[in-house]
Amino acid sequence: TTVTTAVSSDNSFIKKLKASGRSLVVFYGSQTGTAEEFAGRLAKEGIRYQMKGMVADPEECDMEELLQLKNIEKSLAVFCLATYGEGDPTDNAMEFYEWITNGDVDMSGLNYAVFGLGNKTYEHYNKVAIYVDKRLEELGANRVFEAGMGDDDANIEDDFITWKDRFWPAVCDHFGIEGSGEEVLMRQYRLLEQPDVQPDRIYKGEIARLHSMQNQRPPFDAKNPFLAPIRVNKELHKGGGRSCMHIELDIEGSKMRYDAGDHAALYPINDTYLVNKLGELCNAEMDTVFSLINTDTDSSKKHPFPCPTTYRTALTHYLEITAIPRTHILKELAEYCSDDKDKEFLREMASITPEGKKKYQKWIQDACRNIVHILEDVKSCKPPIDHVCELLPRLQPRYYSISSSAKLHPTNVHITAVLVQYETPTGRINNGVATTYLKNKTVEGEEPPRVPVFIRKSQFRLPNKPEIPVIMVGPGTGLAPFRGFIQERQFLRDEGKTVGDTVLYFGCRKRSQDFIYQEELEKYVQSGVLNLKTAFSRDQAEKEYVSHLLEKDEDLIWDILGERKGHFYICGDAKNMAVDVRNILVRIISKKGNMSETDAQQYLKKMETQKRYSADVWS
Ligand code: FAD
Ligand code: 2AM
Repeated sequence: TTVTTAVSSDNSFIKKLKASGRSLVVFYGSQTGTAEEFAGRLAKEGIRYQMKGMVADPEECDMEELLQLKNIEKSLAVFCLATYGEGDPTDNAMEFYEWITNGDVDMSGLNYAVFGLGNKTYEHYNKVAIYVDKRLEELGANRVFEAGMGDDDANIEDDFITWKDRFWPAVCDHFGIEGSGEEVLMRQYRLLEQPDVQPDRIYKGEIARLHSMQNQRPPFDAKNPFLAPIRVNKELHKGGGRSCMHIELDIEGSKMRYDAGDHAALYPINDTYLVNKLGELCNAEMDTVFSLINTDTDSSKKHPFPCPTTYRTALTHYLEITAIPRTHILKELAEYCSDDKDKEFLREMASITPEGKKKYQKWIQDACRNIVHILEDVKSCKPPIDHVCELLPRLQPRYYSISSSAKLHPTNVHITAVLVQYETPTGRINNGVATTYLKNKTVEGEEPPRVPVFIRKSQFRLPNKPEIPVIMVGPGTGLAPFRGFIQERQFLRDEGKTVGDTVLYFGCRKRSQDFIYQEELEKYVQSGVLNLKTAFSRDQAEKEYVSHLLEKDEDLIWDILGERKGHFYICGDAKNMAVDVRNILVRIISKKGNMSETDAQQYLKKMETQKRYSADVWS
């Protein structure tokens, strides 16, 4: 039928490549936009090497066409792939990943290269990219250049520019191309000012569908968030100068459901002061109505964010204005410096020379300078606002581990969030976008404030059988999902079910200050449902952490995990805590189970596949 033809030709990246005389296609597996951004940069740079490129979302493509790519002369497929959670591909790359995993296709003749986006803090560092790189070779494809590994824990921008600096010469070499190497800065989007657009056609912060915030219609998801009233917003800390919020979101009538362990995602907006400041620094007319239109007419992404809109709305709702800019942004900004010294300075920081990299690290990353700070400090740099809007990444939703149980609170989602606020080396105060936004949503007037949210299902789950014992390790806000778990176990107990041991390891700085949900937890202890173990790191001279408590409790832990086949959960800081705790667990298993360290590692891996070991960690 006509419909299927239309769809399938839309999905045909081969047709698009051929129609526009291109030979390079860059696929991305992206969750937060970084892999997509890297893919865009590679596709754009191809021009320098006579390889016109196209960016493609594997989810929107018929990936079986990879088998035909060899029919295009000097063709190359690049994959920028992020690894998430427990070593998983991103949602948009899932189908492709499963296809090459399970399929037994002949990829001979396909030229490819892979760049991975991962984080060394996590157990499965760059697992997806490593696998795809290896698997494509197994299937007969031809690796043009070794896979690049980006580590978001260190400096992924550095990893990327270093990799592509070697990647391009290898590509030229492979195809016998004389690369000019000349840098061409080109706009991806053209500006269209639209003073005559009807006011009701202008986007005002909707994520996708026009007027979706006024005409709320289920199903609610990432593209169509629900405007949830905030019923409770209260401080959990009792001192110490930091803030941790307990927030209750009302999801009644939304048809959204959740289970303890799921995540609530929230679309924040940027601080008005910073938005105005950025407008001033660019001499922008903030209420101008405009669209940015992709100059690549084959791209499925027509606009970088919903258009037409105003600069004020774009900077408030659609763009990450406080993220630390990557080097390609500095390169573009350099062109707008009237002072040659400023221009040279920005260019140098964007270069891959050791001095340039060092300067970028120190002046941008370590100093936590966002675009506003850069424009404040590089005074002669006056970029036009529409180009800034093209360059900045899209504002991302923030995720929070739901801290309630749907059994107890079916129409309320609780979250527990620590306010992000810190002083930078330049003496500025940086405020977290989402947590500052939430902090200001006070519940005082008659009308409750509303925030756009959706729910993301997770794999972080209590065992189906309540009698199975569980150990939970959740210091700080890592307690969040366990509060939901404990509510759930108490609920089942009240229903007369037999509930197994529920052991919680909680840690914070001081009992009197940041022991969040203390009264609640103590009630659960009294009722007999909870075995609570606490470590207060700063209440005595020596630091005491949850990891130290685990070491002391090796008998209890082995009894629950080794003898009684219980479950182990860990939540919170990915960088230090989760790594330490995992290591200690391996040591305990090795010692109490009489195993070598390697066997203990294997034992833990097996627990993971059996869903008896789960982590919900973030950095
Ligand atoms: P942003 O504006 O995004 O700023 C945060 C960034 O600022 C950091 O990434 C870091 O680069 C930088 N930064 C922060 N502090 C400093 C510093 N001292 N020095 C230099 N740079 C700094 N958070 C919770 O509070 N509770 C939860 O239950 C929770 N659950 C999560 C579950 C998942 C699956 C994930 C992925 C994250 C979770 N988070 C949770 C983190 C949360 O999503 C946000 O990242 C966090 O609230 C900060 O968001 P923000 O917009 O306020 O800060
Ligand atoms: P600290 O800040 O005093 O070092 C919640 O953040 C609690 O976790 C705090 O008491 C913090 O202690 C502690 N913490 C810091 N690093 C940790 C680690 N590697 N393992 C376990 N707990 C840690």
